[in-house]
Amino acid sequence: MGKTAIYPGSFDPITNGHLDILQRGACLFDKVIIAILTNPQKKCLFTVEERIDMISKCIETMPNVEVDTFGGLLVEYAATKGATAILRGLRAVSDFEYEFQLALMNRRLNRDVQTVFLMTGMRWIFTSSSIIKEAARFGGNISGMVPDLVRERLSAKLGGKL
Ligand code: PNS
Repeated sequence: MGKTAIYPGSFDPITNGHLDILQRGACLFDKVIIAILTNPQKKCLFTVEERIDMISKCIETMPNVEVDTFGGLLVEYAATKGATAILRGLRAVSDFEYEFQLALMNRRLNRDVQTVFLMTGMRWIFTSSSIIKEAARFGGNISGMVPDLVRERLSAKLGGKL
């Protein structure tokens, strides 16, 4: 049976940094599932459906990548998909503590699921969905940080400022 990894996150919205991790992860695993957390407590700019739609278009050229949603515990979702790995990207040092906690907790919850970290490409070291949304809100230039389609959707959401 092929090896499946889950690439979880909020993806609000997906960035070029996410896509870089995804492309590299897709070379390591037979299948990668981008799993959007559906957390009603977390206030997101895009609806889950909008995020699925953007991601689906971004992964059209990646045959072994699919998009899905999950709620509840990540390791439980991973088990239902037969996945043995969780894929996460690591940017600057500031990501480390949170990612370390998340990975250790997930390992405690299910020792059969390994967290695999890929270091972000230098180009994307400061790229994050929240920084991009903040810049976009004030009309800042975010081209090159997100796919054009995502920039257009952000612009539409924010009243055509971009
Ligand atoms: O995009 P994010 O916010 O960095 O993604 C965080 C995510 C979705 C990976 C994390 O919040 C998560 O896995 N949530 C599901 C609940 C869970 O299993 N938490 C970890 C163990 S308590």
